[in-house]
Amino acid sequence: MSPADVDTVTQDFSARFGREPAGVWSAPGRVNLIGEHTDYNDGFVMPFALAQAVTMAAAPREDGRWSVTSLNRGEGQGGETEEFGPDDLQPGMTGWQAYVAGVVWALREAGHQVRGADLVLTSDVPLGAGLSSSAALECAALAALAGLDELEIEPLERAKLARRCENEFVGAPTGLMDQAASTLCTVGHALFFDCRTFEARQVHLALDEAGLELLVLDTRTPHTHVDGEYADRRRTCEEAAGILGVPALRDVTDLDAALAALPDDVMRRRVRHVVTEDARVLAAADLLARDRVAELAPLLDASHASMRDDFEITVPSVDLAVATAKEAGALGARMTGGGFGGCVIALVAAGTADAVAARVATAFAGAGHGAPTHFVGLPSAGAGRLR
Ligand code: GLA
Repeated sequence: MSPADVDTVTQDFSARFGREPAGVWSAPGRVNLIGEHTDYNDGFVMPFALAQAVTMAAAPREDGRWSVTSLNRGEGQGGETEEFGPDDLQPGMTGWQAYVAGVVWALREAGHQVRGADLVLTSDVPLGAGLSSSAALECAALAALAGLDELEIEPLERAKLARRCENEFVGAPTGLMDQAASTLCTVGHALFFDCRTFEARQVHLALDEAGLELLVLDTRTPHTHVDGEYADRRRTCEEAAGILGVPALRDVTDLDAALAALPDDVMRRRVRHVVTEDARVLAAADLLARDRVAELAPLLDASHASMRDDFEITVPSVDLAVATAKEAGALGARMTGGGFGGCVIALVAAGTADAVAARVATAFAGAGHGAPTHFVGLPSAGAGRLR
């Protein structure tokens, strides 16, 4: 989100509806520093909110219906508007507007009165890049709708409602990490989040002070089959927990004993990823509590190797980006997000992000991959009201 986005949605709203919006709200995308595919195993994650966000202007309307306009869509990006009423709020709705309709649905399911509204949004969260563009949309819609109706809903409760939209309305079986990051994060911090107890701790991410920056490289690899693969990983983890007689893989305390008790190699490797990844998140939180940011690097590398070899959720372009970033001087690097494409994060010396990204671009060209894009990830604020 840039300050200009607030003006953009405000002006568009006024021109479109002939009245001022009642307010402007936003919710960010995220990168996950470490802790991948641990959230739905009741484990630990450590994301931070990005400066990139969905920005949404909103005002109530009288006929009890909702309209939502995305300024990122439509011919020449002139905007695309979708409208729905109470009867349309059926789980399984498709299209981008389902992420907004599902939030209305989740709020109503939880017993909140939600009036009709007009909403206009713009987003600078890259789509389909593993940076939680959909959670940002859900959490921005939630902030706007709750704001319009002055609903008193705690941030954690908001995250859970947004996740309910994603799981039950849109139908994606994700964990709570993305929505928790989008609602709970604060400037300058990563969020240590326990996905069982919902303990949320702000962990100082002193990148500047350490002379470091976090490069985010978007491989722009399309996520094919991502939904099926994600659900498959989740199912295997749940089956393994069942065999081991624990509520979730979070509860595995003796990894060797667990591995010995499992029937096949694929399942053993899936479990090893989750259990070792949980341990890496705890180690990372411990390091950051002591401002030892550079020491995250080996944990990032180990996390990537575990995702590549044990959880098998990386793809060749992602592995190439990580390997090349390391050759170009990154201290540590890993894929971030659900996998099968998307983004890589690399911990690099301050001022070197562009040079590292250029090396990755050259390697991509040589390997026949499309050109990647990049930016420096800045730990930013969670969802809130801007105007
Ligand atoms: C996606 C999901 C999250 C989480 C990550 C993997 O981003 O939405 O809930 O499972 O993948 O860590």
